[in-house]
Amino acid sequence: MWPVRVFIFFSAAGVVLAQRSYTPGDVQDGLRLFVANCAACHGPEGDAIPGVDLGHGKFRRASSDADLIRIIQKGIEGTGMPPNNFNDFQAGIIVAYLRDMAEPASRSALPAGDAAAGKTVFEGKGGCLACHRVKGNGARLGPELTDIGSLRRAVELERSILDPDAEVLPQNRFFRVVAKDGTTTTGRLLNQDAFTVQLFDARERLLSFSKSNLKEYTFIDKSPMPSYQGKLSPKELADLVSYLASLKGVDKQ
Ligand code: HEC
Ligand code: HEC
Repeated sequence: MWPVRVFIFFSAAGVVLAQRSYTPGDVQDGLRLFVANCAACHGPEGDAIPGVDLGHGKFRRASSDADLIRIIQKGIEGTGMPPNNFNDFQAGIIVAYLRDMAEPASRSALPAGDAAAGKTVFEGKGGCLACHRVKGNGARLGPELTDIGSLRRAVELERSILDPDAEVLPQNRFFRVVAKDGTTTTGRLLNQDAFTVQLFDARERLLSFSKSNLKEYTFIDKSPMPSYQGKLSPKELADLVSYLASLKGVDKQ
């Protein structure tokens, strides 16, 4: 059993909960579990259920990390909070993520923006539609953003815009093939089998390569998205983040 008293230390090195420490990679995995299993009800900021706020370290029904782990695993009987099939480590990294969310350093320092003005930046100066699709509009090179506001927090949206390389979700990683004559092509990997690689390139072409003609084929960690650091004013950035946060799918608009 974990002690009820909890010591938490935050640092670039990760999150330390009682008796266990988690690396930044663990916290990142906790974020992914949260997005996949919790955000649909609780929202990316943890505040979508009235009276429940998972992002500020204050809980009605939990006073320790052990309580939180138990709630995550067993649910709360008689309420809409379902049980989950997570082991102690998996539940632990979700708690580590909730603790990290509560840190001032992991909150966005941007002022509240104006979503309508942000839409103008998105479609105009930002040139975002050149790579992203929103509700049927735009290109398919980058991930579809129609629902991005129900999946990502403001601080994560801000980071995606200013520092696209900081975190690239595995399904968003780009792939590079280099032909024997040196021609290099990058794009989204659609499929690969023993003999071929299929990419979707920046000009929205579906390309197929025979592996026997390739010198090299591999994932690239760098994002193809340019950084907007210094290219948008603080107000434009705040407006853009508000606009993205407002994108919660087509039905709910
Ligand atoms: C199907 C919707 C749903 C999902 C999915 C869900 N929750 Fe909940 N959760 C709720 C509801 C509703 C409550 C409020 C229960 C109550 O107190 O009445 C709740 C309450 C909680 C509480 C207690 C809050 C407090 O203030 O004490 C925690 C912690 C929590 N959820 C964490 C999570 C985590 C972490 C996940 C993902 C692993 C998750 N929930 C997934 C609906 C959900
Ligand atoms: C040259 C193409 C390109 C342009 C222009 C571009 N993006 Fe991206 N963007 C991408 C790609 C590719 C990814 C996926 C890889 C990654 O996460 O960096 C991405 C990722 C993102 C993500 C993270 C999505 C997620 O699922 O986490 C957000 C948010 C985003 N872009 C917003 C924007 C906004 C806002 C603009 C305009 C200001 C913009 N992008 C301009 C290509 C682009």
